[in-house]
Amino acid sequence: MYRQTIIAGTEIFREGEKGQTAYIVEDGRVEITSERNGQRVVLAELGAGEIFGEMALIDDEVRSAGATAAEETRVVVIDRDQILNRLEQTEPVIVLLIKILLARFRKTQKELLNQDTDSVSREAVKQAAAATLSQQYESAFEGLKKEQDLKRALAENELVPYFMPIYRLSAPRQLAGFEALVRWIHPERGFVSPAEFVDMAEQSGLIRRIDMTVLDQSWHLLQEVRRLQAGLADQPLFLSVNLSGRHFADDAVIGTVADFLSRTGCPPENLELELTESILINDPDGALRILRELKGLGVLIALDDFGTGFSSLSYLHRFPIDVLKIDQVFVREMEQSAQSHKIIGAIAQLARSLDLTVIAEGVENQHCEEMLAELGCHYGQGFFYGKPRPAGELTELLKGRAA
Ligand code: CMP
Ligand code: MG
Repeated sequence: MYRQTIIAGTEIFREGEKGQTAYIVEDGRVEITSERNGQRVVLAELGAGEIFGEMALIDDEVRSAGATAAEETRVVVIDRDQILNRLEQTEPVIVLLIKILLARFRKTQKELLNQDTDSVSREAVKQAAAATLSQQYESAFEGLKKEQDLKRALAENELVPYFMPIYRLSAPRQLAGFEALVRWIHPERGFVSPAEFVDMAEQSGLIRRIDMTVLDQSWHLLQEVRRLQAGLADQPLFLSVNLSGRHFADDAVIGTVADFLSRTGCPPENLELELTESILINDPDGALRILRELKGLGVLIALDDFGTGFSSLSYLHRFPIDVLKIDQVFVREMEQSAQSHKIIGAIAQLARSLDLTVIAEGVENQHCEEMLAELGCHYGQGFFYGKPRPAGELTELLKGRAA
């Protein structure tokens, strides 16, 4: 960024010439002019705080008008590469819309000014624009279409929770609750893996609605299961749901969870909200405020995937966390790797001294379960206890057991 002082009457650039800089007027006055039927027409007069030259800066075409300092003027100069960097980091759909808007504006302006486009072959300009736009069309609109499909899926209840049982490890092992995991059952494509849509759902913000749909639907199942379990379990089953970091962008999640609790009558101590450390890293102050409010509702807060990422001990101290979920990589490796075994032991010990509950993920066999119990993990989940299942299958299974 650099400043320039331009003497009154100086032409800053001429209509039709190439240029790659834009200007912000700090003080003074700039006239934007164009030729119309051989006459000089003033299109605009710009003063402090206004910007010009942005069109060629963005689309790398010729200047759509001329610019002249009408009095002594100070400007800040912006170079094209400064903007290109930013454009590259911008959502492609937005870039595409900006470019379309620019191309349309240029065309309309030429028509309004009765300008001949002899100097620049009209066809050439059109083709160049079409070529650069078409590649972007493809990728940008692919994303938009997918997002629409996900929206439709949400409206048509294609996103459903599958349930991963969570067991209390102390002998005898007992079903303690479920983690709800979102699944997309697409009418044509069948089972769509979360890996395919979760990122897009996060980007578009749809994940908030998805998480809450999962929560609502899971509650129905939990009630059904509780009915079947009556007399079988010592304690009511708990429900654990994953909350995307997007919920932490504002306070809305507090109201949504409070509303869920009062609407359903779900005892808050039976609801566990799982979050990942990225929330705590990105905006620690915001996260702390929202977590405190959520805790105030009486729900439990679980830190998911613990042990991967930074897993800073300061989180445990600073944030109101009740539960640590040990990432499955450690649990899977535990039988072969003394190191993973030690890490799990250390996390369990730490959790005990901080009065936190530990859930180990990725339990695959009985030996593993025994080791985890010995190390002091309170709960376990994993394929050893069965794959995630839809509500109907689960209730059937429990009916069978209860019978
Ligand atoms: P650019 O095309 O790079 O160079 C000429 C600049 O004049 C253009 O960017 C805009 O900043 C400005 N400009 C073009 N048309 C108008 C208009 N109709 N009103 C105000 N400013 C304009
Ligand atoms: Mg989870």
